[in-house]
Amino acid sequence: MSYLIRILLRFSLGLVLCSPQVGLAQTSQQEIKQAAELLATFLNAGRLVVEQNQSLINDPRKGDKGFTPEVFERAVLEEFSRQTHIDLRTSPPSLPPSTRELLALLLRTSKEVVADAQFVINQRGIGYKNFIPATFGSQAARKFSARSNVTIKQTALDPRNLHNAPDAYERTVLLRLATQPMTSPPIIEWIDGGTTLRVMTPLYYSEDCLTCHGSPKGILDISGYPREGAQVGALAGAISIHIPLDRR
Ligand code: HEC
Repeated sequence: MSYLIRILLRFSLGLVLCSPQVGLAQTSQQEIKQAAELLATFLNAGRLVVEQNQSLINDPRKGDKGFTPEVFERAVLEEFSRQTHIDLRTSPPSLPPSTRELLALLLRTSKEVVADAQFVINQRGIGYKNFIPATFGSQAARKFSARSNVTIKQTALDPRNLHNAPDAYERTVLLRLATQPMTSPPIIEWIDGGTTLRVMTPLYYSEDCLTCHGSPKGILDISGYPREGAQVGALAGAISIHIPLDRR
């Protein structure tokens, strides 16, 4: 009898000792998932701001466009807050510090991309300057990934830019997304025994995209790439995020 009690006691003590750890792992898994979703939303918000200013950026008659890193920052924070109800300007207490740091880093690298492009953006006499949501997004994501343990990437099954080529995991998910209806929610998965989070947020072609990605297939677009012959609503690619559980 006493032996049984001892076993039971040891067992429950074990549970008590174990449970905080399980709880912690779950919290950080939740936190990481939220961080990945917010990073994808932030990168998308930046792409949208570039898109909204595209005709200004491409205006050949204007020199100084006033599309400075500060103007970009105000617009992207406004857009992010509109989409998430999180206002990063007021350092929201609801976000864990590590998530706030990652978002601050993505803001910094996004502003750097806008700063680096100032000379090109402010050229008079040139229309298309290759400063578009896709080039902005690739560069901001690449700079961000080089400075953190989180990897963000814009990818597609048949990418224009080979830096955007999918890895094996991304390829499998893109093939799966391509067979699903438009506006599929992001695919969120823990892989490698729960130690790595992968999030794939699908991007779909809208009418605006088809001036470059549409028909006639194979004919060069304004950016110098052959058009894909894509249709409205087809899967264009995804924003892919990769976060290891323990090393952020
Ligand atoms: C002005 C032409 C143009 C328009 C309009 C355009 N794109 Fe692209 N897209 C490009 C170029 C150029 C690249 C390669 C960017 C780079 O160098 O990383 C690209 C890359 C991409 C990529 C990354 C994978 C790859 O092929 O390298 C995705 C995804 C993408 N575009 C989706 C879209 C979507 C969705 C839209 C509309 C919302 C859109 N594009 C509008 C020119 C365009």
